[in-house]
Amino acid sequence: SAAEKGGWDTFMRKEINEQPQAVADTLRGRIDGNGQIVLDEVRMSDQDFRDIDKVFIIACGTSYHAGLVTKYAIEHWTRIPCEVELSSEFRYRDPVLDRSTLVIAISQSGETMDTLMALRHAKDQKARVLSISNTVGSTIPRESDAVLYTRAGIEVAVASTKAFLTQLAACYLVGLHLAQIRGIKYADEVSAVLSELVATPDKITKLLQDMEPVRALAREVATRTEQRVLFIGRHVGYPVALEGALKLKELAYIHAEGFAAGELKHGPISLIDDGTPVIAIVPSPRGRSLLHDKIISNIQEVKARGAKVIAVCEEGDDITRVHADHVIETPASPTLLAPLLTAVPLQEFAAELATALDKDIDQPRNLAKSVTVE
Ligand code: G6P
Repeated sequence: SAAEKGGWDTFMRKEINEQPQAVADTLRGRIDGNGQIVLDEVRMSDQDFRDIDKVFIIACGTSYHAGLVTKYAIEHWTRIPCEVELSSEFRYRDPVLDRSTLVIAISQSGETMDTLMALRHAKDQKARVLSISNTVGSTIPRESDAVLYTRAGIEVAVASTKAFLTQLAACYLVGLHLAQIRGIKYADEVSAVLSELVATPDKITKLLQDMEPVRALAREVATRTEQRVLFIGRHVGYPVALEGALKLKELAYIHAEGFAAGELKHGPISLIDDGTPVIAIVPSPRGRSLLHDKIISNIQEVKARGAKVIAVCEEGDDITRVHADHVIETPASPTLLAPLLTAVPLQEFAAELATALDKDIDQPRNLAKSVTVE
């Protein structure tokens, strides 16, 4: 009913707009007055965390994309090797696990069978399992050694939005917690990142206030007869590109693919034709400017083959503005936290494009909210 949707026309739009609150709720009470992360409910001792020498993240779908982002953060902040694997592949290939391996299972529903089976395999190999879930008391948290709940509230739309952002927030907390108790060399950076993390809900609010240009671009792309949309990114922008493409596939039934921008020249660039929409996730021009330079070259490469480039970039990024056909600006943020912002316009883009094509964005064909078969 309309009341359940809180005044929005669909659950998906309602949930996109609940993201600032959902992220703030997920952070609340988990950072103390001294800037230390407190994850008491996680039931793993500091010593347990110190003993970890390897992290594996297992998840499916959108949760897998949250895992891919987390790998960049965990390895940079903690120097612990981290691998990310689709749950459905994990247990069939004899992964190397033991008592000092931390397996992080990410699942909104807490009931995804592929992830549950992967978790059981990890436990059989004596690994410790920490789950990140949005559903209190669901099977995956119950079977884990420890759990950190996201606090997105119930997510109704099949395509995940607010759960994804809260998974990122929870994963960042785990990464920063690991970094703090292991006494790492990036201590200053960790405390700076923490205060930036706390500031993100307000930035997401600001971003959501200015979505009409994104919707207009989506409606324009929807009118093209050849509907193929490519997403490119580097570093954490790469998993964001994958997530942007997944949203479009799920909602609009359009062939959309995300690529690591550096891989374009090794194949995917042959897909570019006159007018092919390419959405580029551009990292901040500050700091890691090398990455920024590289993606600008990638934008030039696809434009030279006729692509229409929509760039998601940081506000004030004048260089990108010169090269792209359209820009979608997001508030400034540290590189590793940028996915909390750059993913949002891609959700809006997919929702609007699918709506323009008359699709049911809350209940896409062939998909289920929670997949409890392997
Ligand atoms: C289904 C849903 C996706 C979700 C995936 C993993 O495919 O349609 O939106 O990302 O399952 O779900 P989970 O509950 O494990 O995060």
